Amino acid sequence: MLRSIKKQTIPKISSQFIRFASTKKYDVVIIGGGPGGYVAAIKAGQLGLSTACIEKRGALGGTCLNVGCIPSKSLLNNSHLLHQVQHEAKERGIKIQGEVGVDFPKLMAAKEKSVKQLTGGVEMLLKKNKVDYLKGSGSFVNEHTIKIEPIEEGKEAFEVEAENIIVATGSEPTPFPGIEIDEERIVTSTGILSLKDIPKRLAIIGGGIIGLEMASVYARLGSKVTVIEFMNAIGAGMDGEVAKSTQKLLAKQGLDFKLGTKVISGTREGEVVKIEVEDVKSGKKSDLEADVLLVAIGRRPYTQGLNFEAVGLESDNKGRLIIDDQFKTKHEHIRVIGDVTFGPMLAHKAEEEGIAAAEYIKKGHGHVNYANIPSVMYTHPEVAWVGLNEEQLKEKGIKYKIGKFPFIANSRAKTNLDTDGFVKFIADAETQRVLGVHIIGPNAGEMIAEAGLALEYGASTEDIARTCHAHPTLSEAFKEAALATFDKPINF
Ligand code: FAD
Ligand code: NAI
Repeated sequence: MLRSIKKQTIPKISSQFIRFASTKKYDVVIIGGGPGGYVAAIKAGQLGLSTACIEKRGALGGTCLNVGCIPSKSLLNNSHLLHQVQHEAKERGIKIQGEVGVDFPKLMAAKEKSVKQLTGGVEMLLKKNKVDYLKGSGSFVNEHTIKIEPIEEGKEAFEVEAENIIVATGSEPTPFPGIEIDEERIVTSTGILSLKDIPKRLAIIGGGIIGLEMASVYARLGSKVTVIEFMNAIGAGMDGEVAKSTQKLLAKQGLDFKLGTKVISGTREGEVVKIEVEDVKSGKKSDLEADVLLVAIGRRPYTQGLNFEAVGLESDNKGRLIIDDQFKTKHEHIRVIGDVTFGPMLAHKAEEEGIAAAEYIKKGHGHVNYANIPSVMYTHPEVAWVGLNEEQLKEKGIKYKIGKFPFIANSRAKTNLDTDGFVKFIADAETQRVLGVHIIGPNAGEMIAEAGLALEYGASTEDIARTCHAHPTLSEAFKEAALATFDKPINF
């Protein structure tokens, strides 16, 4: 549209004038419609700010809703159900007649259905909050102007003006030098979520969260899974004791772990992937074959096409856009949130920042407590943690006490025949203030919310132990673990 005005009606006027004469002006323009961006947009709309959200994917919800949290949890949930039907139903007194198996296309279709419902829901929420959803790729023209290259073919590029700008462009899988991704046989997290067939042999580089969640899914579907991890522990940042227990439980489920192992190369040869690995300690090399190789060695900030350098924004050596503690770049009105900047790459962290960024713009203050961001790995059992772990406390020289309670002694877990794991509290040795909670067990991801609340309010383990918890619930294990840090648990 802009181009046609330039050519036909006012050819002699400077392009700077045309920009201001024809562009729409907003209080806030957000680049990226993931959990950071769309939540910031909704909040800004709720705060009465005129807001636009630019997204180039063709659907809102970002990595999380489209190729991350949601599709992976759909596959985890449904493959767990399959596992229960195949391996637990009999023990639970349920007779299955006929064949139990996987209809893989339907499993994938169920995942797609959840994704579509949720991304569509976000679009409705933007509408409800009077946010303009601009479908295209956004890039900086100057400090207050963003150019949008529409995704729809035939539509012309246009520009918008913004009093404030929030960059929320997210992240992408970190490539492995020398390994070529084709998203068919050598895949990232995006490809593994949309395979056409269940691989007989799946090799995974990286024993982090993506690696372990996807390993669980495909092991349950029948793949022979090998996880190759450079470090001597899985779980990328889990409490050491919890990581060890998790590894044992996952190994019992059939996962093969090659820890302390370096990948030298991975090459597709026809329908097979050949992988060369080296033992980090001994230097001994060996070969491995797989039908699919998943590369899951972390994610890196995504700023492609953003043209942020043109307005002087800076990034660090990991590609993270540099901001202050109010998300501000060197330009006060340009803020950055979510995966593309510092902090854990988690959807709920990006969401918190989205709300806080909108509040900073409208009210001048906002709040995110980075010491209290929970992590959950949705394997079975789930692993969840918040606050500090033992290794971090030792490094900081803080004296602490530990209280643990196993699910084998919890009545609900026993009733549900689901007793693997434990709750572990770490509290300050003198004050009993909760410093961290680490759970491996059924519903750990739901239970960790109580730990988050305890941390936020500076609760002591006694505060929790003296709070009445319903019976029979798994949360009684949580209460008992708190009790065990300063007294004796009742049921163990
Ligand atoms: P993103 O979600 O990446 O969104 C950024 C959006 O910006 C994208 O849609 C992109 O298309 C758009 N964009 C980029 N550049 C432009 C541009 N120039 N113009 C217009 N649009 C642009 N986190 C959890 O908390 N829990 C989980 O269970 C979980 N599971 C995950 C599973 C997988 C397989 C993966 C890969 C990730 C998972 N994550 C999970 C991480 C989570 O997805 C991210 O932390 C979260 O999506 C980050 O949100 P964001 O808004 O910062 O960025
Ligand atoms: P990650 O950081 O969780 O794990 C990467 C693993 O790969 C680490 O254990 C690391 O030691 C290993 N590694 C790195 N280089 C290697 C190499 N050359 N050879 C072998 N191993 C190597 O990253 P991942 O799993 O890719 O996930 C990315 C991010 O996505 C996570 O950090 C998390 O923030 C987010 N995510 C969150 C989920 C959740 O909350 N449930 C689920 C999935 C992803």
